[in-house]
Amino acid sequence: MIIVTGGAGFIGSNFVINWIRQQKTPVVNLDRLTYAGNLNNLAELEHNSLHHFVKGDINNRGLVKELLNEYQPRAIVHCAAETHVDRSIYHPENFIQTNIVGVFNLLEETHAYWKQLSEEKQKGFRFLHVSTDEVYGSLTKNDPPSKEKSYYAPNSPYAASKASSDHLVRAYHQTYKLPVLTTHSSNNYGPYQFPEKLIPLIIVNALQGKPLPIYGDGLNIRNWLYVEDHCDALRTVLAKGTPGETYNIGDQHEQTNREIVNSVCSILDELKPDSPYVPHSSLIKYVKDRPGHDRRYSLDCSKIHNELGWKPKQMFKDNIRKTVKWYLENMSWLENVVTGEYRDWIRAHYVERGSHD
Ligand code: NAD
Ligand code: TYD
Repeated sequence: MIIVTGGAGFIGSNFVINWIRQQKTPVVNLDRLTYAGNLNNLAELEHNSLHHFVKGDINNRGLVKELLNEYQPRAIVHCAAETHVDRSIYHPENFIQTNIVGVFNLLEETHAYWKQLSEEKQKGFRFLHVSTDEVYGSLTKNDPPSKEKSYYAPNSPYAASKASSDHLVRAYHQTYKLPVLTTHSSNNYGPYQFPEKLIPLIIVNALQGKPLPIYGDGLNIRNWLYVEDHCDALRTVLAKGTPGETYNIGDQHEQTNREIVNSVCSILDELKPDSPYVPHSSLIKYVKDRPGHDRRYSLDCSKIHNELGWKPKQMFKDNIRKTVKWYLENMSWLENVVTGEYRDWIRAHYVERGSHD
């Protein structure tokens, strides 16, 4: 039995589905169901007795304690977070509350639970903290990729909140010996990603003939990782990682935002040749830059490769195509996740830029 937090979000739901398919052991899924959490992501598990969903907040210590005592998990995989950089710029409060205070509360209850386990169970227990490459801050074109020991230089309130939680997690290992693991992954893409993030946003807008907003000059570089590869890496770290260690997870596939948006547009041109918006790239619109926009992220992933034997399975070219196809085949999922709350947020923050409407 393991507990996954945030298992109704993008990475969390992919992780829970993959875990139950492959490990065939039970998962308790604790998720507050914010705008980014959606039970439709877990539709295939609806009648699966290995999946136990609990709607709740990681800040609710009474609930967390109850779940720990009732289910006696051997691990916690912590995915719950506020995750969108743009939202963190306009409303950082939720990021502090969930990504910092929430992690503190979760660590406190986990530590209390772990302390009273038998010595053998204490040894086997793991708290896996899912974090991001954004804690390392922005690189220039010539900087070497960030290593696990590179210094922290978070630039957005999102990245700063994740960096703070990384430090708390580390401290619970150094101080109390809680067996923690931290992972720093690069940008993910794949099924069930909320359409405020670049790739699904481009797909949704292109299908409706809306502008495809590229911030600034579009030459910012990201390192894209297919979500299934990320889930596979998390399972590997959980099984083989050394407590107290951190692991970078990426696939060394660096691309500018222009390149990514153009790839998505070409795939759409191929898959929807009759669309009135072909070529979809004609919808691209360069808009005002994101404040503090990090120029480049790049990860050195030799540690997870050399020490744990993990590397991504498939090629970007195949996975991005699979991803675009998935969104085209799951239009009802898309309509369902774009709630009134999301539309209100977009209206309040983006119309002034003329980018999303
Ligand atoms: P997401 O925004 O899609 O999902 C987050 C989930 O957490 C949602 O289901 C939401 O309801 C839940 N949640 C939020 N606050 C909560 C709270 N207080 N209590 C309980 N549940 C809460 O996020 P994601 O993209 O799946 O990211 C998951 C994790 O991976 C995050 O920690 C993120 O920092 C990290 N990460 C994401 C990426 C990426 O590209 N998406 C890259 C690197 C790291
Ligand atoms: P995003 O998906 O928000 O992830 P992150 O900010 O965590 O890297 O953005 C990926 C890149 O795409 C980032 O450089 C910002 C850029 N971007 C745009 O150019 N236009 C958009 O509408 C969005 C959402 C992002």
